[in-house]
Amino acid sequence: MPRKSLTDLYQMKAKGEKIAWLTSYDYPSAQFCQAAGIDMILVGDSLGMCVYGYNGTVPVTMDQCLVHTEAVRRGAPDLFVVGDMPFLSYQVSDADAVLNAGLFLKKADVDAVKLEGGVRIVDRIKAISDAGIVVIGHIGLTPQSSGLLGGHKAQGRTAQAAQLTLEDALAVEKAGAKLLLVEAIPPEVTAVIHQRLSIPVLSIGGGLPCDGQLLIISDLIGQFQAFTPKFVKKYANVAQVITEAIKQYVTEVKTEHFPGPEFTYSMLPGEEEKFYQMVGYTPASK
Ligand code: KIV
Repeated sequence: MPRKSLTDLYQMKAKGEKIAWLTSYDYPSAQFCQAAGIDMILVGDSLGMCVYGYNGTVPVTMDQCLVHTEAVRRGAPDLFVVGDMPFLSYQVSDADAVLNAGLFLKKADVDAVKLEGGVRIVDRIKAISDAGIVVIGHIGLTPQSSGLLGGHKAQGRTAQAAQLTLEDALAVEKAGAKLLLVEAIPPEVTAVIHQRLSIPVLSIGGGLPCDGQLLIISDLIGQFQAFTPKFVKKYANVAQVITEAIKQYVTEVKTEHFPGPEFTYSMLPGEEEKFYQMVGYTPASK
């Protein structure tokens, strides 16, 4: 199957077919995404919380993002894979931004990179796009700058804030981004952005009126325990499944029910006696 391309995503928008986007951070979950019919994967810097246990995304490094993105690409060779530019990989200069975006292409074979910010980040979007790299904008709640936003809070909830969010969206498109992600904004604001932009608009916590949805896999499968944003729907509870399995293992180890004979290897015929004689060992009882 040919790899999903930007053209495919634009055709889906044109046909009104919704785009299903999910994060993934490793090889097995990327395989599951591909098998389950996901269109796009984001190897989000949310891996800082979901994989490394940090309390935010700020500590995440380029090296961590690259290692995880390479693994995801191996697991999902046919999907549109997006590298997420971590904090300080693009904020300092256009040159840093182009270099780090390019590393995602060179080392992890991504189809696009995503960076957070609207009006304040347009120079970086333009610089990366001018280097021939597909950029996805990310506005609304932008976790890397949650300090400035007063925490992990919904954005665009007053008329004035909504207008600023729309201005961010327009600026991101004008700077050359090929897709836009809106996070944690009211659907009314998403609808206006979707109507005013010609590029596909995707949402995580922005409601239905757009071209597709993103969720974080650790939320969707019920693995991430620290907190649950309002927009998260949990489709499974793997935390419970895994904990129950481990508990059962602990019990079976302690009661010597594991490993039973079906999980052990036998010596080849006649070799057991020969071995005991060779090493002078007498088995306790048979
Ligand atoms: O890192 C990530 O998963 C993200 C989403 C929260 C949009 O950027």
